[in-house]
Amino acid sequence: MEIVIQPTAEAATKIAARLVAGLIRERPAAVLGLATGSTPLLLYRELIAMKLDWSKLTTFNLDEYVGISPQHPQSYRSFMWENLFQHVNVAVKHVNIPDGLANDIPGSCGRYEQKIKGAGGIDLQVLGIGTDGHIGFNEPTSSLSSRTRIKTLTPQTIKDNAHFFGSEKDVPHHVLTMGIGTILEARHCLLLAFGGKKARAIAEAVEGPITSMNPASALQLHPKVTVCLDEAAAAELKLKDYYRWVFDHKPDWQK
Ligand code: GLP
Repeated sequence: MEIVIQPTAEAATKIAARLVAGLIRERPAAVLGLATGSTPLLLYRELIAMKLDWSKLTTFNLDEYVGISPQHPQSYRSFMWENLFQHVNVAVKHVNIPDGLANDIPGSCGRYEQKIKGAGGIDLQVLGIGTDGHIGFNEPTSSLSSRTRIKTLTPQTIKDNAHFFGSEKDVPHHVLTMGIGTILEARHCLLLAFGGKKARAIAEAVEGPITSMNPASALQLHPKVTVCLDEAAAAELKLKDYYRWVFDHKPDWQK
């Protein structure tokens, strides 16, 4: 894992954006895994400003709420159109988001997995993290080898996401999410976390034991993970001075 600690979310996002933009320029037909939530908003803004060519890219989103229509303002489909897709030249037919209204949920989750495989797998997966360590919507105790499936949100996640919906009672309880096993197959994972509310989850994910109680800790098993943090999200890392030193003293070939 490479841990990048920057003074602000903006600075950490700039590094993440360079990484994503580098892939898009190098491989115009790359497969990007995308996330929602407040964390990647800055990244999407930055990528839009870079005026990259998205026309050949394929995208797969991590998750979606079950039971709300794609047009619902808080569906992750609406989120992605509003905050990214309508501002770039992505091809609609290359955008993939789990179908929260599917009649046959297991079938549609299986097809989502097949589609990812068919596209050649995900080159770079953008991830945020929940205050309970969830990635995608893989809540604590999710199987570390899980695949795309339906999950039930924890009361904590419902509380955390209530601000998007206006109130806790409006947050759907069920969601579809890529599994941890699905995420671990991406060739590169880019985890972003900002703010003190994420400090505990990040410390446990990066330095704690690998445990389904903090699903993001499964990323320790992945050969290529970049974690971009602001100071506040890095606050509880025991080795933060070491990570800073490593980043500041990278050999030229690795920069
Ligand atoms: C949601 C999303 C996750 C996201 C998490 C953190 O639960 N499904 O993908 O990482 O929220 O959200 P935020 O970035 O708003 O803190």
